[in-house]
Amino acid sequence: MSVQVEQLTKIYGTQKAVDNISFQVKHGDILGFLGPNGAGKSTAMKMITGYISPSAGKVSVSGIDMLKNPQEGQKAIGYLPENNPLYKEMFIKEYLHFVAGVYKLEAKKEAVKRVIEMTGLVVEQHKKIGQLSKGYRQRVGIAQALIHDPKVLILDEPMSGLDPNQLEEIRQLIRELGKDKTVIFSTHIMQEVQAICNRVMIIQNGKIVANDTVNNITQQIHGVQKIVFSMEKPIDINTFKALEIIDSIEQKGNLTYEVTGKDAYQLKKALFRIAVKTDNPILQLQDMGTNLEGIFKQLTHSSK
Ligand SMILES: Nc1ncnc2c1ncn2[C@@H]1O[C@H](COP(=O)(O)OP(=O)(O)OP(=O)(O)O)[C@@H](O)[C@H]1O
Ligand SMILES: [Mg+2]
Repeated sequence: MSVQVEQLTKIYGTQKAVDNISFQVKHGDILGFLGPNGAGKSTAMKMITGYISPSAGKVSVSGIDMLKNPQEGQKAIGYLPENNPLYKEMFIKEYLHFVAGVYKLEAKKEAVKRVIEMTGLVVEQHKKIGQLSKGYRQRVGIAQALIHDPKVLILDEPMSGLDPNQLEEIRQLIRELGKDKTVIFSTHIMQEVQAICNRVMIIQNGKIVANDTVNNITQQIHGVQKIVFSMEKPIDINTFKALEIIDSIEQKGNLTYEVTGKDAYQLKKALFRIAVKTDNPILQLQDMGTNLEGIFKQLTHSSK
């Protein structure tokens, strides 16, 4: 197992920021770590990386006990902390050389060149960190996490503040990295998890409320299936609301509606039946699939 967490707990005063969580991540997994603000994601990540010590529990990374041997463990971990703290007065290369020095790397120059290329920093590489846009600073944060070629990457909100183009590039980078590394990253953006991860873990009030493959989680838990459709004439929303199969219906535009329910097949059948019965043809219908956002809302609501 690449990362093994057992009964990990962090208590601040009377609050259990992380409450007895256990999970494992295996080599090559990309785990999306989801949870609302204050759920305990950053606290858990800080304990896994040995940044802060747990109140109870155990963490091992690449077989190394992080409590007994944090320095050895940290060699196996690349960590992008929340808010990506960087030295703004330093030049990118200067900073990355400095980080390479902290890890006592021998081939510093090669390592710096490698991570600059990997993270798409070549064009900006001669700038000071303080002169960079947010997205490029984020890349410097990822570059410093990669400098010692760690087996495990812990990225606390690597996507925050990126524009759509940069998002796609960083997604691609994380996918690439996931091929030969274990990646755990936290985010609030469900689409990121669906786009990149094979595993998802949802945390709420310091407790794990879901931990599974992205596929399983969308199948096993009552998903929110969404269908958007347009009809020729206006509909009587109450006719739809009365159906047990439909959880919600909302008008989205002129003659366009969105229904949700737990079973897309049954939803579609019901829609076609109403269309025939009321002589109101369906002109367009789009199955939006199960959305992880709905699942996230369900899970983090029900456990309150
Ligand atoms: N140093 C600290 N002292 C006291 N309480 C803390 C400390 N660090 C975190 N907490 C509390 O622990 C809880 C979990 O915080 P944490 O930062 O881990 O959440 P998070 O899931 O990362 O949230 P976000 O999505 O907002 O980043 C919060 O209630 C927070 O106030
Ligand atoms: Mg956080």
